[in-house]
Amino acid sequence: MSALIKSLEAKRVVPLVQSDDQKTALKISEALLAGGLDVLEVVLRTDAALDCLEAIAKEFPHAHVGAGTVLSAEQSQEVIRRGATFIVSPGFDPASIKVAQSADVPILPGIATPSEALLARNMGLGLVKLFPASVVGGPKMLKALSAVYRDMRFMPTGGVSPANLQEYLAVPAVIACGGSWLTPASAIEAGDFAAITKLAKDAIAIANA
Ligand code: 3PG
Repeated sequence: MSALIKSLEAKRVVPLVQSDDQKTALKISEALLAGGLDVLEVVLRTDAALDCLEAIAKEFPHAHVGAGTVLSAEQSQEVIRRGATFIVSPGFDPASIKVAQSADVPILPGIATPSEALLARNMGLGLVKLFPASVVGGPKMLKALSAVYRDMRFMPTGGVSPANLQEYLAVPAVIACGGSWLTPASAIEAGDFAAITKLAKDAIAIANA
């Protein structure tokens, strides 16, 4: 966990990688790494996602290659087998959390309420994803949650963009923000991977400003 925490603290942005084929997924990942980001969340939203995850984890062993949109204990097990070094879920599923914890793989469940945050905390989790962040209250919600859960940290995702990234990162309990804005489908379809590298660099510049 501590290596992942260190990278999250340093880079402060977690891009989503979504692709229909491994070759493209590797190019997207390469572009993000070239831009300086080394925590990648490969989302299970295409038929090829597990193969993409495995290929990226093999090709870039020094990056933190996690699986996102993990919805069940079975998927948790499978992504660990495919090489995921962390797991992200849109919601709070105790069975998925238990699988990850028994394999000693960090998991960030999605939470959207104080009750879910408390359930996560009381399962021993100090870091959760706030999702969908912009819908459930954004930075104000994060300030409210962190005022009571003083030992918890958050990765808001959902509606984060270059326009509001700084506002989210200014909340002390926010370790990093996740988002799909770094890997736009239009750039991927056009084969413009340089654009993805630029988005990654721009995000790091915003985070450090
Ligand atoms: C996620 O899976 O975390 C979200 O779909 C990302 O939300 P975004 O597309 O608004 O960044």
